[in-house]
Amino acid sequence: MHVLMIYSSRTGNTKQIAEVIENTLKAKRASVKQVHQESTDLNERQINDLIKSADVVGLGYWADKGTANTTISELANLETLKDKPLFIFGTIGSDPESEHGKACYTSVNEAFNASKLLGQYLCRGKIDPRITERMKKSQAHPHSMDEKRIQRHQESMQHPDAKDIENARAFSEELMIRYEENSNIR
Ligand SMILES: Cc1cc2nc3c(=O)[nH]c(=O)nc-3n(C[C@H](O)[C@H](O)[C@H](O)COP(=O)(O)O)c2cc1C
Repeated sequence: MHVLMIYSSRTGNTKQIAEVIENTLKAKRASVKQVHQESTDLNERQINDLIKSADVVGLGYWADKGTANTTISELANLETLKDKPLFIFGTIGSDPESEHGKACYTSVNEAFNASKLLGQYLCRGKIDPRITERMKKSQAHPHSMDEKRIQRHQESMQHPDAKDIENARAFSEELMIRYEENSNIR
């Protein structure tokens, strides 16, 4: 099984999850190619060629305004992704079990509307402290910082934690099983 993973990560949370998934899949003898969008400069034709040559594609996002960040969301338009077995992973500053977290998860699944979605993994990630500081200073910001929000930002700094990593590993193992078991997906 050849897996292509395309992901965006500005501050390293999603990259950390991508690496756990890659290592787990490789331990199960899959071959994996990672494309970290911020470190590469592939054009659309090159991306399409990589997608065509993969058995499974994994897309990794960070939550931006309650959905996948733009550079990953845009990939939903690619014809080559239609009918491709797909998995999605992401990190989000809020608790994934909160209303906002659940809405993000649903929004991303709907945006990709994949006919062969193997699953989505979403966990919490650290919020860049520069954003926290900026929001504290700007009381005019639509998300002005009350005590609860400050606390949520602080809690995010513990993530991804050991449990998030373990869950990402379990998700990756489950992906292999789902791919192997579902003969329609091959
Ligand atoms: C511009 C911007 C918008 C964000 N929007 C959200 C959001 O809507 N909801 C949320 O819970 N976290 C939001 N976050 C937090 C990130 O999704 C979170 O910190 C993520 O783990 C960052 O991933 P990365 O380290 O891979 O870049 C936002 C962060 C940035 C920089």
